[in-house]
Amino acid sequence: MQSVDDKIIVEEQQGTALVLAQTPVGAAKKMYLESYGCQMNFSDSEIVAAILLKEGYQTTADVEKADLIMLNTCSIREKAEQTVRNRLVHFNGLKRKKPSLLIGVLGCMAERLKDKFLQEEKIVDFVVGPDAYRDLPVVIQKAGSGQKAVNVLLSREETYAEISPIRLGGNGVSAFISIMRGCDNMCSFCVVPFTRGRERSRDLNSILHEARYLLQEGYKEITLLGQNVDSYKWKNTENEAVVSFAQLLEAVSLVSPSLRIRFSTSHPKDMTDEVLAVMAKYDNICKYIHLPVQSGNDEVLENMNRGYTADWYKNRIDAIRRILPTCAISSDIIAGFCGETEEQHQDTLDMMDYVGYDFAYMFKYSERPNTLAQRKYQDDVPEEVKSRRLQEIVDKQMLSGLASNQKAVGKVFEVLIEGESKKSNLQWQGRTTHNKMVIFDKTSGEKGSYVQVKIKECTSATLFGEIV
Ligand code: 5AD
Ligand code: SF4
Repeated sequence: MQSVDDKIIVEEQQGTALVLAQTPVGAAKKMYLESYGCQMNFSDSEIVAAILLKEGYQTTADVEKADLIMLNTCSIREKAEQTVRNRLVHFNGLKRKKPSLLIGVLGCMAERLKDKFLQEEKIVDFVVGPDAYRDLPVVIQKAGSGQKAVNVLLSREETYAEISPIRLGGNGVSAFISIMRGCDNMCSFCVVPFTRGRERSRDLNSILHEARYLLQEGYKEITLLGQNVDSYKWKNTENEAVVSFAQLLEAVSLVSPSLRIRFSTSHPKDMTDEVLAVMAKYDNICKYIHLPVQSGNDEVLENMNRGYTADWYKNRIDAIRRILPTCAISSDIIAGFCGETEEQHQDTLDMMDYVGYDFAYMFKYSERPNTLAQRKYQDDVPEEVKSRRLQEIVDKQMLSGLASNQKAVGKVFEVLIEGESKKSNLQWQGRTTHNKMVIFDKTSGEKGSYVQVKIKECTSATLFGEIV
């Protein structure tokens, strides 16, 4: 069985270098962008690329060729921050060989570590926070002339609504659309409200415009992104009407029946039956919900400031099962939050049994500076207890994921082909509506097409089948 440390979220350990598909001929300078953390950060990097492309930069996947290196960083757990620091040290080695090279830190670490990186350690030339990317050209110019270059101002309005992102490193089939920014929830363990600021929703029309544009460009699947999509709320100043997430979801699904729609992340305290009803009404809205539980115990949930109880969460699960009987459900789970007892940990395992998650992201609690939890509670669960509890959660999830995949064996699913399988150029890989990865022989179909696949066998992570 996979060890806990291997398991803990690969995305934190590997940044992804992004390659630009089309670049203007003759562009002078080359930028290298590396993204860490959540999908929102990857989506933001596409906005950064769009802003700098206008300034004449080209992207490169070869860091040795770069004139400008930017790391779009994540602060959510300590481990993510350590990885970025190591990368910065490595890039400073390159700068010694090429002194004109500029190195910048973007994203969630910018706010917190700007002084440390710029002044104390002097390992970066500029720092720009998630709401200040429009200022990048100015900041980079300042850095180039040797001045202190930083903008980490958070905004109450910025949604980058009209910036058309440059699609980076994707498969040309699925794309993200950011529908809101920031978060007002103040979960006690979480830095996001501090690093990304207050919640704001993007203009519905600009979202629809982007969806239509992506469809025209040949994309077949879009994922609507926000820290808490259920609290999407946009006021149309023309008629004063307030648009909810359910209404947005319906409007996006109507763009085209051939465009698959996904969304992430839902919040249990806000997820409405109205959203579930819209999902049930439209075949092109994927039957998959990421509904992070974090813990199965009321007192821990209260201390986490999550705004719901275990019973409330179960009621939301029951609603999903009632309205969308086949819907897949995934979760985020934290092991060893402040003060968590063995019984409370057991409640989390019991919750996992109740739901039978198809998939889960599982973490050890990692104390983050200035969060409510850091100020209010002791991070008192010993490291080895956290590890053991996380392993128990991971073990249970392996079984649950396998059971969920085994139920798919023998059934036929519509699969959107994302491209060649990573292991064989004779096979396709794609996903079902339930977000399950399927591998099958290339007997027909092409990248971006829908095929009917009969599932023959599975592991806990993947389905294997054949086109029927
Ligand atoms: N420690 C561990 N996990 C965390 N997450 C957020 N903050 C922390 C933290 N301090 C997890 C939550 C959240 C996911 C994105 O990351 O489970 O849903
Ligand atoms: Fe963090 Fe909670 Fe907001 Fe998610 S909902 S980003 S966990 S504060």
